[in-house]
Amino acid sequence: MRISVIGCGYLGAVHASAMAELGHDVIGIDVDARKIAQLAEAHPPFHEPGLPEILASATASGRLRFSTDIADAADAEVHFIAVGTPQQPGRPTADLSYVDASFEGLLPHLADGALVVGKSTVPVGTAQRLAERLASAAPHASLAWNPEFLREGFAVKDTLEPDRLVYGVADAEAADLLDRVYQAAIDAGTPRIVTDYATAELVKVAANAFLATKISFINAMSEIADATGADVTALADAIGHDARIGRRFLNAGVGFGGGCLPKDIRAFAARADELGVGQSISFLEQVDQINLRQRQRVVHLAEDALGGSVYERRIAVLGVAFKPDSDDVRDSPALDVAVSLKGLGADVVATDPAGIENARSRHPQLTYSASVEDALRGADLVVLVTEWREYRDLDPEAVGGLVAARRIIDGRNVLDPGQWRAAGWEYRGMGRP
Ligand code: UGA
Repeated sequence: MRISVIGCGYLGAVHASAMAELGHDVIGIDVDARKIAQLAEAHPPFHEPGLPEILASATASGRLRFSTDIADAADAEVHFIAVGTPQQPGRPTADLSYVDASFEGLLPHLADGALVVGKSTVPVGTAQRLAERLASAAPHASLAWNPEFLREGFAVKDTLEPDRLVYGVADAEAADLLDRVYQAAIDAGTPRIVTDYATAELVKVAANAFLATKISFINAMSEIADATGADVTALADAIGHDARIGRRFLNAGVGFGGGCLPKDIRAFAARADELGVGQSISFLEQVDQINLRQRQRVVHLAEDALGGSVYERRIAVLGVAFKPDSDDVRDSPALDVAVSLKGLGADVVATDPAGIENARSRHPQLTYSASVEDALRGADLVVLVTEWREYRDLDPEAVGGLVAARRIIDGRNVLDPGQWRAAGWEYRGMGRP
């Protein structure tokens, strides 16, 4: 099929490459000329495992092209809108200006029978509003909402082998067109839910709200564990064996961040307020507060470890990305911790295998080191806040030879406390005795 993908960020660039990988003829559109130039040369503008390979093969085959001119999308039968919906500055609501601008930009170029497919995460009611606009401005085209559930770090796999497909549609033709796009996944038996616009929009935010709640639940348990001497990791293992609960997303630590979970729960709560049903999901405010408290908890643990103050003490912060296998630092708990410690007068050196460039553009006041050894050298305290494989695998003996004092805060509960203590380290986890 001929497909356009409007917006080539973390979502759109992967979607465009994956659709080409499936054999479709794809054009990716973005207003950022630098990003488009990089993608056209098969250089992903961000870190995503597996993307370089499919981007290279798709551009080489000629099935994937990129442009800054939305008129180049005119040929497509299906147009995916994959632009960002960030939180508005100083407000909990989502900024829909990129969705609206790309939608309006597309209107004059829609061919007869074209399908516009929203992938961006939007407040419920957005699709209905856009469908009404389409009905008056381009009645020969139609609209579907097809939320995306990909996780950064696994985005290629999640797109090529999704665990479910959700179509919010107004007619059967739209569902048939989407079936043709996703034929490979459908043939592989992927569950497919065909529903209305509002449900499709809500599925996305409900899923993220549930995941955020699960993480904040275990983090709340970790606070109780700290107060009682209990072990939150053993607790998570034990309750996770109950299939109704499940062990995934029950890792206590510095909490969730990124470009999705934090802003999605805030925008969802704000939208519920607008609809007059704010009370129904007012618990999401608690979920948000528990989550933000974890960042402060790590800072307090650091103060405690250093005898009450971090002022002028050398602290190595391991990780700035919001999670491993990503260079994304949006609303990153790790970066927040580094910035708070620096604000308290600590001599912070932060390191990360992929996120330093993005972190530096947001927080140039921090000192960064690409080398974990250099970050660790002379440190009075080590704070692990993003669980990259290379940090999980650190050898406490070898690291002990670099630091000034063997003190570590495991902000992701991924190290073996017994092993670190046996090597002479003062170990502090989150909700672990
Ligand atoms: C999330 C969802 O998982 C995806 O399904 C969704 O498609 C995506 O948002 C989106 O809305 O586009 P992502 O933001 O890539 O994906 O990251 P997650 O893997 O969900 O992790 C979010 C945060 O939670 C990370 O900071 C991670 O460290 C943290 N987390 C995760 C925990 O603190 N504990 C856990 O047990 C799991």
